Amino acid sequence: MAHKSTNITPVAHGVSDQERWRRHGHRGGVLWLTGLPGSGKSTLAFELERRLFAAGYRAYVLDGDNLRHGLNADLGFSPADRTENIRRVGEVAALFAGAGMVVITAFISPYRSDRTAARKAAKGNFHEIFLSAGLAVCEKRDPKGLYKKARRGEISEFTGVTAPYEAPESPELTIDTGAITVEQSLRLLIDHVDRNFKLPAE
Ligand SMILES: Nc1ncnc2c1ncn2[C@@H]1O[C@H](COP(=O)(O)OP(=O)(O)OP(=O)(O)O)[C@@H](O)[C@H]1O
Ligand SMILES: [Mg+2]
Repeated sequence: MAHKSTNITPVAHGVSDQERWRRHGHRGGVLWLTGLPGSGKSTLAFELERRLFAAGYRAYVLDGDNLRHGLNADLGFSPADRTENIRRVGEVAALFAGAGMVVITAFISPYRSDRTAARKAAKGNFHEIFLSAGLAVCEKRDPKGLYKKARRGEISEFTGVTAPYEAPESPELTIDTGAITVEQSLRLLIDHVDRNFKLPAE
């Protein structure tokens, strides 16, 4: 991304990350879910948000379809627009994480380099979570009927059919959502959050 702004001087916050974390009882950071359409990103993200909230976490979901109505309404699905979509989401997720939240993102985010940029924006507080259900399973589920449309040629550049998906090479967590239930997947996610975000009791 070309930087157009000059004469910019960032200002430091008067509240440290650690102070925010102590107030919340947990660290801030990003849980970045990635996987094919129908792999279970939205299902798991919103249920995880519910469960973490009930357990006392500050958690918030950023979901692909929701953000495309607002912040990213000007973007389509060309490679350049997908990259810009994920760049903005990565920056917003990093801001929420900086505020001390557990941010759960649910975007296909098919390009490795875009996910790497999102990781960089979050400055280390980033967990890439690969929902590894394969194409056959996801297409059979087809929760929004979009695979069918894509096969009929009614959607161009549909991930898995006419656009690529680059699987993560070293994700922090892989969940085969084609082989286990929603409940079992949530268990793995909650364990991961408890292990990595919870602060030791004082
Ligand atoms: N282990 C699992 N985890 C998540 N979803 C599962 C699992 N097993 C079955 N499913 C089902 O798979 C479907 C996943 O659909 P969902 O809308 O969550 O996918 P998505 O990844 O958000 O897709 P899109 O990229 O199109 O938004 C749901 O119908 C869900 O009930
Ligand atoms: Mg979804």
